[in-house]
Amino acid sequence: MNAVSSTQSAIQSGSRWTIADAMKIHTDDPTTTMPVIDYAFPVIDSDVWQWDTWLLRDIHGKTVTFKGWYVMFALVADRSATGDTVEGWHSRNNYSYIGYYYSRTGNGADWKFGGRVIKEGANSRSWEWSGCAVMRENSGSTVDLFYTSVNDTPSESVPSYTTGRVLADANGVWFEGFDVCTDMFQADGVNYANIVEDQYWDFRDPHIFRNPDDNQIYALFEGNVPGMRGDFTIGSDEMGLVPPATTVPAGAQYGAAAIGIARLKSDSTKGDFSQWEMLPALVTALGVNDQTERPHVVFQDGLTYLFTISHHSTFTGNSTGPDGVYGFVSRNGIFGPYTPLNGSGLVLGNPSAAPYETYSHFVDPAGYVQSFIDTLPQPGSADPQNPEIYRIGGTLAPTVKIVLDGERTFLTEVHAYGQVYAQGVWPTSSAWDKRS
Ligand code: FRU
Repeated sequence: MNAVSSTQSAIQSGSRWTIADAMKIHTDDPTTTMPVIDYAFPVIDSDVWQWDTWLLRDIHGKTVTFKGWYVMFALVADRSATGDTVEGWHSRNNYSYIGYYYSRTGNGADWKFGGRVIKEGANSRSWEWSGCAVMRENSGSTVDLFYTSVNDTPSESVPSYTTGRVLADANGVWFEGFDVCTDMFQADGVNYANIVEDQYWDFRDPHIFRNPDDNQIYALFEGNVPGMRGDFTIGSDEMGLVPPATTVPAGAQYGAAAIGIARLKSDSTKGDFSQWEMLPALVTALGVNDQTERPHVVFQDGLTYLFTISHHSTFTGNSTGPDGVYGFVSRNGIFGPYTPLNGSGLVLGNPSAAPYETYSHFVDPAGYVQSFIDTLPQPGSADPQNPEIYRIGGTLAPTVKIVLDGERTFLTEVHAYGQVYAQGVWPTSSAWDKRS
């Protein structure tokens, strides 16, 4: 083992998503494929582009209603600011802020856009990217909002949090506070690549939860394997159990995605989420893929399911797969070891007839999966990537349900556009899932 690969294995103490695993990915398998969306899909609010979305929940993951209202948070951009055009949609990250919506029914048809959550100016950096919104334990109405504080120049991406209160009456939902933003942690260059090592580094999307095994609070996040970009040795560990004579594909070493984890050290009961211990990644995709975004976790039947979204365009070497949600399962709690769900990791991908129709899937603890519509080709279109004929989404896709059956998953139900389910009413009395 040379010096590079021994350093690599020291940091890669977690589980691997290997090149051999990715060889098992099959686009259009009906059990792991999103339905083709109707070209005439409805739009929740045509004043804003809406993409990454998350529901109000408790720290165990259970989605909750508040005073009879369903509440969802999403990255949004004012269409008027971006230019209500194809270019506007594709530049939305540069206008992104966290907005909220509320609904009486959760059936997707009565969402009302409520506006901005974080007070203007409170986030000291340029944009607000993805995170999660968690009702503070033992509180009536305190919400801790975790998000990614992203700066344009100099380029920065810092998981952060801000706290406020949710209020509601018969007419709607509104928020107070969210006027102080605090950094959680930064890419350390030791457990996770920083910008010096990798100018395309990913470090974002905090997902906070209480771990049923040790009752500690953790944050999952999107990261990259530490080390200089492209300067990785792809060896037998990263290749996995490949057929004979398989060689390392050119460019594989540019895939360095990592599902990160950190443990809270400060006192959450005082609302202090500022001190964290960085831990080595749970799953790395060295040689396979460069982005594992919005990681989140579901505990079910004594198993730990780790989900993450990834793109067709971020697979490296010869590996390939659709845009969608991928997953890994552990029989031994949050620290693994993990094996890829369905053998390959693919849980729900876009169909080849509409390869970019949805993204940013989020799996709730009951298996309901929300995602947003990205670009939808006209039915029968020969070139699904042609902006002349695709329809931009910027709104929610039909919700689907998957069943988690041990190490396999199955698509079993398709519901309405933007439909959501709550697993509890706030205040929730107990953890969603006591491990068996
Ligand atoms: C996923 C994602 C997140 C990021 C956000 C920015 O769709 O790339 O990782 O926080 O979108 O828009």
